[in-house]
Amino acid sequence: MTAPKLSLTTTTADEATVDAVVIGTVQSDSDPGGVTLAPGSERVDAAFGGNLAEILRTVGATGKQDEVVKIPSMGKIKAGLVVAAGLGKAGDGGPAAEQVRRASGVAARALAGTRRAVTTLSTVDLQAAVEGTLLGAYRFTEYRSEKGDAPVERVDVESPAEGTAKEHRTALKTATAIAEAVRTARDFINTPPNDLYPASFADRAAALGRDAGLEVEVLDEKALRKGGYGGVLGVGMGSTRPPRLVRLSYQGPKARKKVALVGKGITFDTGGISIKPAATMDEMTSDMSGAAAVVAIMVLASKLKYPLSLTATVPMAENMPSGSAYRPGDVLTMYGGKTVEVLNTDAEGRLILADAIVRACEDGPDYLIDIATLTGAQMVALGRRTPGIMGTDEFRDRTAEIARSTGEGGWPMPLPDELRGDLDSKLADIANVTGHRWGGMLAAGIFLREFVAENVQWAHIDIAGPAFNPAAPWGYTAKGGTGVPVRTVAALLSDIADNG
Ligand code: BES
Ligand code: MN
Ligand code: ZN
Repeated sequence: MTAPKLSLTTTTADEATVDAVVIGTVQSDSDPGGVTLAPGSERVDAAFGGNLAEILRTVGATGKQDEVVKIPSMGKIKAGLVVAAGLGKAGDGGPAAEQVRRASGVAARALAGTRRAVTTLSTVDLQAAVEGTLLGAYRFTEYRSEKGDAPVERVDVESPAEGTAKEHRTALKTATAIAEAVRTARDFINTPPNDLYPASFADRAAALGRDAGLEVEVLDEKALRKGGYGGVLGVGMGSTRPPRLVRLSYQGPKARKKVALVGKGITFDTGGISIKPAATMDEMTSDMSGAAAVVAIMVLASKLKYPLSLTATVPMAENMPSGSAYRPGDVLTMYGGKTVEVLNTDAEGRLILADAIVRACEDGPDYLIDIATLTGAQMVALGRRTPGIMGTDEFRDRTAEIARSTGEGGWPMPLPDELRGDLDSKLADIANVTGHRWGGMLAAGIFLREFVAENVQWAHIDIAGPAFNPAAPWGYTAKGGTGVPVRTVAALLSDIADNG
């Protein structure tokens, strides 16, 4: 569905000829139910005789997160409607970026069906307001006959007092590009598995890559066989729709560092012969979220022109049970020659990632970032919204810290050596599962570590929960694909571009 068109304005919200004005509300620390207005709403408040907070409180506004209250303006300002979005409690420094992003997202959802609005939340944090608005307005209606209320068409973004017009334009452009990348990832994830299978996913990724000026290479099943990609081929064997491996490269101006991205692209995960229970199996349409994020980030990189050299290695397969499927007990020879005993065909992600990681390391990257909906254990450990981040110590911690600064969240997790012994195989170099449930997310990380080249700084991001929201929308997060961790990796790449 088309994104709203955002443009900067210096016209204040009270004077704007629009249908709705978005303001922020803040929850009181001391007075329960006490609501105050966020910075940026002063002129709107003045038009209401300084009584706007009291009016809002009367109709039940508290300023808490995810709250949105609409009141008619009755001619006090040009717009007919005031949309007050809750920011939650604010610290001494005022509302944080993530609070602005979420409130903007909630407001954008409440604006569905409206043609034109102006937001004042941008005066608190321009980039966060733009991201929140574009992400909150996201809807996936491709497969609906009745599309419902259209997302808000135009949003004027009030310029903050600080900074130059040029800085504001750059912030708008950057935030728009980042939000577009998240929307691209969401579109891939939300496309159902009968339409998004390895070949069609590869075609779409290749087309996006070419349009963005990236170098594109697609290995089909024949090329995979010739190359010896035993992991991708083994997992893909059970499906009538053969696997693919997509390679995208981006050569930035004056590249300081080489970064390799790898993303898990299981277009549907039934578990294979080690089949999953029927309940919520449909959510395995999102098992290509890592791949979706990687493709979207490559397109973003070319738009933002990071001074980096980037490669994406994206294995795509469908994990199905059938007469031709791989079995528990099979031994696969992976790309690069290591052998893996498959004890559980549902631990398929690590098998396709192993091939891709070895291939990615051949290019000699400084950094390797892999993204995968890898383990249910991630959700047991960290819940539905916090990615688990593993890898080499320093880069893992750096990634986790940046993940938290973007609002996507992320927590560093260890790779305890003793788990490696539990992956010993009775006949191959390694087994794909431990045979017990303990530290399942970490065991998957330990398995991947075996395939990462020495001297590569590595971050492994397990997004099993965070990639997909099966429940009600919240903040700027829609139901379905979330696009996590696109913003984290964008911030990480820009940090590497700046600091090496
Ligand atoms: N795609 C799943 C992990 C997953 C589960 C993602 C739930 C999102 C939501 C992965 O391929 C898988 O099945 N992992 C197994 C590993 C086990 C067999 C060691 C799991 O977590 O159960
Ligand atoms: Mn699985
Ligand atoms: Zn999977």
